[in-house]
Amino acid sequence: MTGAARGIGRATALAFARLGARVAVCDKLAAELDDVAAELSELDALVTARLMDVRDAEQVRALRDEIAATTAGSVDVLVNNAGGGFKASFLETSSRGEAALIAENFTQVTSCLREFVPLMGDGARIVNVTSIEAHRAGPGFGIYSAMKAAVESLTKTLALELAEMRIRVNAVAPDMIPTPGDADLAAAVGMSDHGSYDQPWPDDGTPDDVAGVIVFLASGLARFVTGTTVHVDGGTHAASGWRRGPAGGWLL
Ligand SMILES: NC(=O)c1ccc[n+]([C@@H]2O[C@H](COP(=O)([O-])OP(=O)(O)OC[C@H]3O[C@@H](n4cnc5c(N)ncnc54)[C@H](O)[C@@H]3O)[C@@H](O)[C@H]2O)c1
Repeated sequence: MTGAARGIGRATALAFARLGARVAVCDKLAAELDDVAAELSELDALVTARLMDVRDAEQVRALRDEIAATTAGSVDVLVNNAGGGFKASFLETSSRGEAALIAENFTQVTSCLREFVPLMGDGARIVNVTSIEAHRAGPGFGIYSAMKAAVESLTKTLALELAEMRIRVNAVAPDMIPTPGDADLAAAVGMSDHGSYDQPWPDDGTPDDVAGVIVFLASGLARFVTGTTVHVDGGTHAASGWRRGPAGGWLL
């Protein structure tokens, strides 16, 4: 599980652990990673907690080697959760910024897939965390959105390429969920530029809401589900522009 030290990743790692899974986690935030590792240890669920940057393919390989040694070479579930970005229009994004967003949201996913799929056997599952932005325009987040869309495309292709191995591949696409990462973004851009948690559902989503869907997709209950995306967004994708009117009802 990548990016497991906080937010959606942390909630997911703990959800798996509470259901009895043994979990290997990685993140680039040392203190937060120590915290989640301690919680996983208390649940007797920790395989390893590795401080690393998933954009570094060498470090991903080292994690693969460590996990292969500890789990007798077998991985049942891979959750590609790490990701993020900054707000800038396409013309404000330098080629260096673009490369960083591609590495953060796409290349690290492919390098995890390349390293971990060979450790996965019959019946294994992959869940990629994408975004509502993969399904609509993303002003201020053009490269991030394009990379999340690329991960969704790869999710479909891998579902077919890995079907013979009975490895299921799916994505979850959250809309805005209050997490530390989202709070950082709000602080960086200023609240007035951040948007609101204004989904059709009456209350906000939580990291646990996303974790629950990831666990479902990784479970036997989803045995016949592959190559698809589950939207965890309180109805935003379905709304497609419809919004609640000030006097009730819906406006387009
Ligand atoms: N929160 C939202 O509103 C929202 C909406 C749509 C999609 N997402 C996606 O959900 C995923 C999790 O987001 P979150 O909101 O929980 O963010 P978060 O910042 O709260 O948590 C992400 C974790 O991933 C780690 N991480 C990020 N890049 C890393 C790297 N290169 N190497 C190692 N660790 C790394 C971070 O250190 C952090 O602990 C991301 O892929 C994000 O794009 C989030």
